[in-house]
Amino acid sequence: MRRVEYAALTLLMSAPMTHVVTESCIKCKYTDCVDVCPVDCFREGPNMLVIEPDECIDCAVCIPECPVNAIYAEEDVPEDQRRFIALNVELSQTWPSITRMKPHPEDADEWKDVRDKLKYLDRGK
Ligand code: SF4
Ligand code: F3S
Repeated sequence: MRRVEYAALTLLMSAPMTHVVTESCIKCKYTDCVDVCPVDCFREGPNMLVIEPDECIDCAVCIPECPVNAIYAEEDVPEDQRRFIALNVELSQTWPSITRMKPHPEDADEWKDVRDKLKYLDRGK
């Protein structure tokens, strides 16, 4: 392998990755994901959770727990959800930690199939 290719590969493999909560979580916030995270890296906003990227160890156990498939590995985030990568970074800096599952909003099931929910995101104060 040429030296430049090796350097690029090394850089790629050492780049920190994370998992990302996307739009489906908004107004659903089922919180099943929280109970399985081994490093407590979920953060809670008024109507959505996000993941603190520096704490996530990329174990992926939260992915199948979410009833609305809101969680992706960063490299698998769909094109129309890429903005949530930056939103997880931003919002996890100010939202508080959540470490236990809690009851979801009463109307969560009514929102689970709704698309384009970003306009409903409540960032809190
Ligand atoms: Fe937590 Fe693992 Fe999910 Fe990261 S991938 S948020 S460490 S459960
Ligand atoms: Fe949201 Fe799914 Fe967790 S809806 S709170 S990412 S279980």
